[in-house]
Amino acid sequence: MAALDTVLARIDANRDAALDRLFRLVSIPSVSTDQAYAADCVRAAEFLAAELNAIGFEASTRPTRGHPMVVAHGKGARPDVPHLLFYGHYDVQPADPLALWETPPFEPRLVEAGAGTQIVGRGVSDDKGQLMTFIEAARAFKEAGELPCRVTILLEGEEESGSPSLPDFLAENKKELSADLALVCDTSMWDRDTPAVTTMLRGLVLEEAVIRGADRDLHSGMFGSAAVNPIHVLAKIIAGLHDEAGKVTLPGFYDGVAELPEEVAEQWRGLGFDGEGFLRAVGLSVPAGERGRSVLEMLWSRPACDVNGISGGYQGEGSKTVLPAEARAKFSFRLVGQQDPQKVAESFRAYARAALPADCGIEFISHGASPALALSFNSESLSRASRALQAEWGVAPVLAGCGGSIPIVGRFKSDLKMDTLMVGFALDDDRIHSPNEKYELSSFQKGARSWARILSALAA
Ligand code: BES
Ligand code: ZN
Repeated sequence: MAALDTVLARIDANRDAALDRLFRLVSIPSVSTDQAYAADCVRAAEFLAAELNAIGFEASTRPTRGHPMVVAHGKGARPDVPHLLFYGHYDVQPADPLALWETPPFEPRLVEAGAGTQIVGRGVSDDKGQLMTFIEAARAFKEAGELPCRVTILLEGEEESGSPSLPDFLAENKKELSADLALVCDTSMWDRDTPAVTTMLRGLVLEEAVIRGADRDLHSGMFGSAAVNPIHVLAKIIAGLHDEAGKVTLPGFYDGVAELPEEVAEQWRGLGFDGEGFLRAVGLSVPAGERGRSVLEMLWSRPACDVNGISGGYQGEGSKTVLPAEARAKFSFRLVGQQDPQKVAESFRAYARAALPADCGIEFISHGASPALALSFNSESLSRASRALQAEWGVAPVLAGCGGSIPIVGRFKSDLKMDTLMVGFALDDDRIHSPNEKYELSSFQKGARSWARILSALAA
């Protein structure tokens, strides 16, 4: 097996070429939710499979009903050490609003910022730069000799749209994809100097509601107040979702939400999270969630209900006196603990139906549902990864929660009986899903070095 120092030196020597590879990947607009980019998703998958083949993996793209998977197998130096499955996603969120990008989203570039160099482009942090940290580590092992253990890589192109094809793909390829431990690089560091191992993810229920009234748009003078207005109905439904104290009002919504165990609460308090500064960084000052909860609790251990988009009526320039026939909104429910995604969706639908006045109909469209996830705080692999991260960053990693969701991770345990280790190098200010997304060059570089150390520690 290659000495770790040699592998780390390869990563450093490869830096510019690695950046070039990342730029090529970021240049492919693999937006998964928009069918207009389906061919680009295929291109991104093919690019990654080719990269992996070039460094000695046996890699291929695999068709699904949606965007293709990339699966790659790399042989390890020894048979008696854990077999690892690395998971990442090559799809990205839509780039809009385009006007707010300082340079085109799919033309990556380096920017010198106060704290260091940044790589800017859609998906550079979520998740292309992150997944490339792992591939660059694997490349360095291959160049220096061989991988320290058997590694399977699974990259999907639908994470940002809820991973609709992946559960079936896992089931159909169970034997091929089962390993001893899953690794995921799609989460954040604690801050720019402190790494994190993420042990919790929130679940997610995505619902779209369409409310319809009259069978056509109407003149608001001829029909106003005589005809029901679907936008008003929708607004009332949205307004009723939270009470004055910021709690979600849906019956049964908090079933399965537990208070934090005292030792976890204490550990989180010890992190000294600056909730005010966190909000200040995005131009806010007052936490908007449940009264009496800290910002960190709101993000990591409490559920949330949000409207992600709303439309209806005239959206063009100037005014139009119209009474719309339809109004729609997209809702997201972030789940924690044992909240049941199906029950949350049903409770929401029942509430919205019950709120409809005469002559209104409602249609619901589900865009996915996944439960929350909590991983063990003390496993052998977590201790090994922690020591490896400490060696790279000079400080021990924080055991972090996460406000976001990675829908498939729960299935690694339930369907493939694997534990998961989540280590990522994104920063809170990476503007993921927003204009001008960036990834720190230090995240990219030290991220690859971190994976080399983690692989070596897990295989020791
Ligand atoms: N990488 C994120 C998850 C994440 C967000 C980790 C913030 C750490 C901090 C992931 O790609 C993501 O955005 N997931 C979506 C899933 C959804 C679209 C089904 C999410 O959480 O909104
Ligand atoms: Zn992601």
